[in-house]
Amino acid sequence: MGISKTGLGGKDLIALYSLGREQITEILEVAARLKDEQKRGISHPILTGKTLAMIFTKSSTRTRVSFEVAMHQLGGYPLFLSGQELQLGRGETIADTAMVMSRYVDGIMIRTFAHSDVEELAKYAEIPVVNGLTDLNHPCQILADFQTIIEHKGKLEGLKLAYVGDGNNVCHSLLNGCAKVGMNISVATPAGYEPDPRIISLAEADAKASGAVVELTGDPLKAVKDADVIYTDVWASMGQEAEHEERLKIFKSCQVNTELVREAKPDYLFMHCLPAHRGEEVTAEVIDGPNSVVFDEAENRLHAQKAVLALMMG
Ligand code: CP
Ligand code: NVA
Repeated sequence: MGISKTGLGGKDLIALYSLGREQITEILEVAARLKDEQKRGISHPILTGKTLAMIFTKSSTRTRVSFEVAMHQLGGYPLFLSGQELQLGRGETIADTAMVMSRYVDGIMIRTFAHSDVEELAKYAEIPVVNGLTDLNHPCQILADFQTIIEHKGKLEGLKLAYVGDGNNVCHSLLNGCAKVGMNISVATPAGYEPDPRIISLAEADAKASGAVVELTGDPLKAVKDADVIYTDVWASMGQEAEHEERLKIFKSCQVNTELVREAKPDYLFMHCLPAHRGEEVTAEVIDGPNSVVFDEAENRLHAQKAVLALMMG
């Protein structure tokens, strides 16, 4: 049942490596359709009467606002829950929380630290669970990024995306997503800050099937050479605040600045999931320059997530 033709109905979105290529394509097609309808004032009350619980144990601007607005535009109800205020914060188990929530709501979106906590929640929940960011990955972000790249470049397959910076959650989801859809990805990180080897293995296996090239390097210049997209993220993610000063020194050579972007194609796109730190991972000149599409990415969080919710809960 449901509206998905690729079996997404009732399923979870925990990581892009668990999705099929045709499922990613379906999400992106529905996202484009919903965006077009919304711009033309056509309502799409696909989730009338349905409630999405949104659990946050980390800060958020885009994820919280876009999921909340997404549920409203789909005719449903978004229920914001701070992890600290739930009994979960006082030691109630994830399993019990999942089973209780399943009796009240129709889906759960969660942003938290340990990826295993989201896997545990999904294991015990009888309703779809959507990962709104963990320490390991950020699948919703990359679906919005892919929608943005398609809008500007008309395709994903065969393009080269260069990720420069920390081998973090966003980098992981880019690796897995690019490998699925046949987009070449080159990741430049300082030594000791490479992506998780388990993520690399999954990406390499998917790249074999899709024809994507996965490259890992310590040299930002090599990564961005002839790139269609340059992507970066903060050097200290949520939970790593104490390492911020130390990381500023370690990541200095990874700054995306005018000199670095010269190596990319002239019509390259600059992308960043936001929030950004101008003067750290990217200069103001680049992020506020003509090649930057960061606010399109932010907007597309809304449309891509509406597609995810409609396909999984609809
Ligand atoms: N990009 C992103 O997930 O932003 P927030 O942390 O503001 O949700
Ligand atoms: N890597 C960042 C992404 C924020 C959207 C973090 O986890 O803080």
